[in-house]
Amino acid sequence: MSYKDQIDLQKLPRHIAVIMDGNGRWAKGKGKLRVFGHHNGVLSVRDVVEAAGELGVQYLTLYTFSAENWNRPKLEVTAIMELLISTLNKEIAKLMNNNVRLNAIGDLDKLPGKCHKELLGAIEKTSANTGLVLTLALSYGSRNEIVHAAQRLAAKVQSGELQPHNIDEQLFEDNLYTGGMPNPELLIRTSGEYRISNYLLWQIAYAELYFTQKLWPDFRREDLFEAILDYQKRERRFGKTSEQVN
Ligand code: FPP
Repeated sequence: MSYKDQIDLQKLPRHIAVIMDGNGRWAKGKGKLRVFGHHNGVLSVRDVVEAAGELGVQYLTLYTFSAENWNRPKLEVTAIMELLISTLNKEIAKLMNNNVRLNAIGDLDKLPGKCHKELLGAIEKTSANTGLVLTLALSYGSRNEIVHAAQRLAAKVQSGELQPHNIDEQLFEDNLYTGGMPNPELLIRTSGEYRISNYLLWQIAYAELYFTQKLWPDFRREDLFEAILDYQKRERRFGKTSEQVN
């Protein structure tokens, strides 16, 4: 039986977050430039988005460009931004056909003007779609997101709109970039690295972590199904005992 057939559709994670890592090493292993890895990484993005949508996963959040990634060689940064624009242009029709709603989180003002504009245009175009919510984390850093939420709340306190004692976990969460989204139940990281790298630190408090040796350009739909199956075999207890959850 294929991995897909073994998945219990009643117990799907609602939200899957992915750290797409290993594009550079994949390309290097083939004697090619890093950018070649990113281009092939897009093929994995397409495959995984399709597969998640088919299954009925509601939210997929991809770590596409971290706040720290701005420090990469200028040529690589430019290439990734151009790849983002060309991918949005190429894939928009498919996103519409598949009822995917595009979303983005991060310090989006830092994106080059054209990239920012294309992104907002694509988000707007897909805004009425009701299927998978595909969120791209761009210029994203979780600590920055948390500080940003604190600033928003502090401004409301300063204006008298909010009392400090009314700040609770839910309100804090609502003020993150991901406000309104459920927290991820499953976090996948490719390329054999066992780090979180400043990704969704608040949101993954109870997520199951899944690490695979596969490099991102080699990670395809079957690998997503395998990760979901692994997740379904685990017992999620949220601090309770085994007897309480069964
Ligand atoms: C990690 O591999 C990948 C990135 C920082 C970029 C991710 C971008 C894409 C998959 C393409 C653009 C995506 C969209 C949705 C248009 P790495 O470069 O860190 O690899 P390494 O660890 O082997 O160096």
